[in-house]
Amino acid sequence: MGHRVTLPKLFEHPVTQKYVKRAGLAHAVAVAYHAFYLAKERNVDVDTAAKAAFLHDSGHYMWYRNGEWDYELYKANDIHAIKGAERAHKLLIRLGEDRQKAKEVAVAILLHTDSYLPGQSVDRTPLQTVVAEADELDEEPGGAHHYRKMSDEQAKKKLKELDLRITEVLKAQDEAIYPK
Ligand SMILES: [Fe+2]
Ligand SMILES: [Fe+2]
Repeated sequence: MGHRVTLPKLFEHPVTQKYVKRAGLAHAVAVAYHAFYLAKERNVDVDTAAKAAFLHDSGHYMWYRNGEWDYELYKANDIHAIKGAERAHKLLIRLGEDRQKAKEVAVAILLHTDSYLPGQSVDRTPLQTVVAEADELDEEPGGAHHYRKMSDEQAKKKLKELDLRITEVLKAQDEAIYPK
């Protein structure tokens, strides 16, 4: 296992600071935790799942129109999954992420919701399913999950803790593949 982009490192970046916060830091952190546990349970790569989950809503934009939240208009024009996929990919590549992993994160973000897709069914891989389900686990009526508050200090602490757990799982998986 070579160089890994950690969650605290990801958190510090100005792109994360601007765009993850816009869609709600508390939601991003909560979904990252859900994704970690689901991925661990299902033998999906925990690092990829947590990163995709943490960045899944980073494509949100245009929250208000004339100072007012217009949910119907927003929904009709929403492409946040597309924007988020691209944004997360660019960010991860900049931080030196493995290209294959950056792509997997981007596609998982692209497919975390199907609200913008024609037709109803998306055939998701286990990783993509983990990210979509993790998001659903944290959803609140009326989009309230985007407005829950979390301080930077709290987020940093939680992400550091999650990153430690990710490291432990990766180490255990590594040892299972390459026994000492
Ligand atoms: Fe979303
Ligand atoms: Fe979300």
